[in-house]
Amino acid sequence: MEAAAPPLLECREVRASYGAFQALKGISLAFADRERVGIFGHNGCGKSTLLNCCVGAHRELSGAVSFAGQAVVPGEVHRNVKLGIGYVPQGRNVFKDLSVERNLRIAGLMHENEDVESVYRLFPVLKARRAQPAGTMSGGEQQMIAFGMALMTRPRILLLDEPTTGLSPVLANMVLETVTRISAEIGIGIVLVEQNVSRTLKAIDRAVIMKMGRIISDGPAAELADKKHLWEWF
Ligand SMILES: Nc1ncnc2c1ncn2[C@@H]1O[C@H](COP(=O)(O)OP(=O)(O)O)[C@@H](O)[C@H]1O
Ligand SMILES: [Mg+2]
Repeated sequence: MEAAAPPLLECREVRASYGAFQALKGISLAFADRERVGIFGHNGCGKSTLLNCCVGAHRELSGAVSFAGQAVVPGEVHRNVKLGIGYVPQGRNVFKDLSVERNLRIAGLMHENEDVESVYRLFPVLKARRAQPAGTMSGGEQQMIAFGMALMTRPRILLLDEPTTGLSPVLANMVLETVTRISAEIGIGIVLVEQNVSRTLKAIDRAVIMKMGRIISDGPAAELADKKHLWEWF
C-alpha cells in the first residue's frame, strides 16, 4: 500500500502492562485503509497484547489508540468494534453447541446486523452446514465461523490472532488464502498475527516484527522474504 494513505487505525506510544510487568514498551504503528499487515515475533513478545490494545480489550495502557480519527477507549470493546474494528481472538471462539447460523446471528445481534447471507456468499461451506453444531466442524471450518462472526460486526479492519494455530499446513494455507480473498472482496484491512513467517508472507503487504514489547522491523512483506536472517534473529 502507498505510504501516503492516511492511517485508519493508529497506535501512538502505546505502553501496556500486567501489574508491574510492561508487555508493550512504546509501540507506534499505523494501519492504512485496506492494508494487509502481518505481525510476527516469538511467544510472549506482545502480539496478542497489541491486538487487545487496538480493540480496547486491554485496560492497563498509556499512549493512544485511534480509529478513523476517533479514540479507541480501553475497556469499551463493544463501542470500539462498532467503530469498525473486527477482532478474532486467539483460539476458536465459537459457541460449540450452537449451530453455525446461530453463531453468526448472535455475533450480529449487538450490531443490528441480520444479514447472514452476505457471510454465506463469502463462505459457501458455512451455508451448506448452517444447521450443524459449530463444535462438530473441523478446526479450519471453526476458524471460518469465527471470521464470519467478526464480519457480522461490519468491520473496516479485521484483527486476527493466530488463526492458523493447530491447523495442518494445508488447512492453514486455506485459511490464509481465505483471509486474502475476503479482504480483497469486501475491501477491508487485515492485521494478522502469525508464528509462521514464510507461509504468511504471501497473504500480506507489510510485515512487522516484534521483540520483547518493541517493534524491531516494519516494511514491505516482499522485502522480508529476502531477509531470512531476520526471521532467524527474532
Ligand atoms: N494476563 C496476563 N498476566 C500477566 N502477564 C501476562 C498476561 N498476558 C500476557 N502476559 C505477559 O505479557 C507478555 C506478552 O504476552 P502476549 O501479548 O500474550 O504475547 P504473544 O501474543 O506475542 O505471545 C508475555 O510476557 C506474557 O507472559
Ligand atoms: Mg498471542
